[in-house]
Amino acid sequence: MTPSAETERVLVFDFGAQYCQLIARRVREQNVFCQIVRHDLPATRVAELRPKGLILSGGPASVYEPAAPKCDPAIFQLGIPTLGICYGMQLACHVMGGEIKPAPSREFGRAHCHIQEADGLFAGVPEDSIVWMSHGDQVQGVSGDFMALAATETCPLAAVRHRKQPVFGLQFHPEVSHTAYGGRILRNFLYEVCGCQGLWQMQSFIERAVAELRERIGDHRVICGLSGGVDSSVTAAILLRAVGNQVACIFVDNGLLRQGEADAVRRTFRDHFHADLHVVDARQRFLQALAGITDPQEKRRVIGHVFIDVFKDEAKRIQNVRFLAQGTLYPDVIESGTSADGTAANIKIHHNVGGLPKELGFELIEPLKDLFKDEVRRLGLELGLPEALVWRHPFPGPGLAVRCLGPVSAARLDTLRQADAILLEELKQSGWYRQTAQAFAVLLPVQSVGVMGDGRTYENVIALRAVQTDDFMTADWSHLPYELLAKISTRIINQVSGVNRVVYDISSKPPATIEWE
Ligand code: XMP
Repeated sequence: MTPSAETERVLVFDFGAQYCQLIARRVREQNVFCQIVRHDLPATRVAELRPKGLILSGGPASVYEPAAPKCDPAIFQLGIPTLGICYGMQLACHVMGGEIKPAPSREFGRAHCHIQEADGLFAGVPEDSIVWMSHGDQVQGVSGDFMALAATETCPLAAVRHRKQPVFGLQFHPEVSHTAYGGRILRNFLYEVCGCQGLWQMQSFIERAVAELRERIGDHRVICGLSGGVDSSVTAAILLRAVGNQVACIFVDNGLLRQGEADAVRRTFRDHFHADLHVVDARQRFLQALAGITDPQEKRRVIGHVFIDVFKDEAKRIQNVRFLAQGTLYPDVIESGTSADGTAANIKIHHNVGGLPKELGFELIEPLKDLFKDEVRRLGLELGLPEALVWRHPFPGPGLAVRCLGPVSAARLDTLRQADAILLEELKQSGWYRQTAQAFAVLLPVQSVGVMGDGRTYENVIALRAVQTDDFMTADWSHLPYELLAKISTRIINQVSGVNRVVYDISSKPPATIEWE
């Protein structure tokens, strides 16, 4: 991003919509930088940020409820182009003289939208198209200041425009993919109404981030912890691009990784990026600390402590370090409520957020903190990281320890690792890896009876888990083809000694979680 890309900032006001982050992502996809802000951000602060446009998100409330989230009404007087979506439209019309009422029937799902005014917001959109509705209330009447732009069968004011102020409202959701021309409508708002030029592009982000990192880091050294995952790898890659040999990467081999992962980190960062890579072989230390522990939370606690100790020991050996880099992403910033301009409505503290304690005494550097996950992946590819790493499924910090139910031992980890490697290999080969959000094997703490050749066996059970999800807060089990499941099962039972049964987990989240522990 160049300095001018920031002047193209669009603010998304969060009224508690499940789609708020999706709106922000859709705006970024149109190469316009945007940030999610609190619904009540004062108009004076909005003016200071000099956004090109404002988007008011949807939300579950009704504008007449006393506790309904409101915006500062003065934002409508700033002359900044504003688009209200669903609740955001109702609020804009409410503030500017409209009447909001429960719709004759709650409308949810696809609707036929007929456009009455084809220019501006609807340029290039066919007169009739499908839109996605999800609302109870709707705008019933508007003052003469507003004009109708579109209608559906049950919603006469599906889109409106203020006659004097650049304020627009959509009762439907342009951000969801079911709205056939949603992308075009958002693009029209950003480019035709707000006058954006599309300055938010990965290559210019890299140039700006590199310049900023160089200036901030000077000639000090930076430590970057590598986990083998996408976020820490991309963080390291951009730091290496910026300050090369001033970066020391620390990779703790905790013995709880998947097959081949420690080697992949070595290959990528030592051989390809020529990084100063410190691999700490802490496998025994973790195994000893985990001996005899079966409680999942206790496993996590122990692993967390050992990790910090090992990391600290290694960091002490590196001289002249002032900074510690972390792969915090934009959703982490919003979710943990640390964003400069307020928080999203449904704050969740996610267990992937966290990291190292402050006592390490370093200043934090978070080069990815403005990016969404899909942007981080694009950045990773531009920086030359291998595709397999960029598209890697998320992997929990405590690693295979929470997939080895019951006691964790070198032998049990080895059994699990082999089964897991077969699962991943088959998923990749069949093209299903990219169609699942996360997939892994779990070693159960039970034995089951089987028969092999002429003999009875009494051996381990492997459970397979594969899920589809966008946000990991809810998930559905992947409907993998039976033939694929059959092949994976046969291979695991034949090739992994000590396993005589494979089962497939068909639970959704909620009520189950993605991991078993
Ligand atoms: P659950 O099992 O809660 O998982 O449905 C949601 C996502 O979080 C990951 N996960 C973890 N990540 N440390 C992590 O860094 C953990 O302790 C942990 N537990 C679960 C999980 O793999 C999934 O992507």
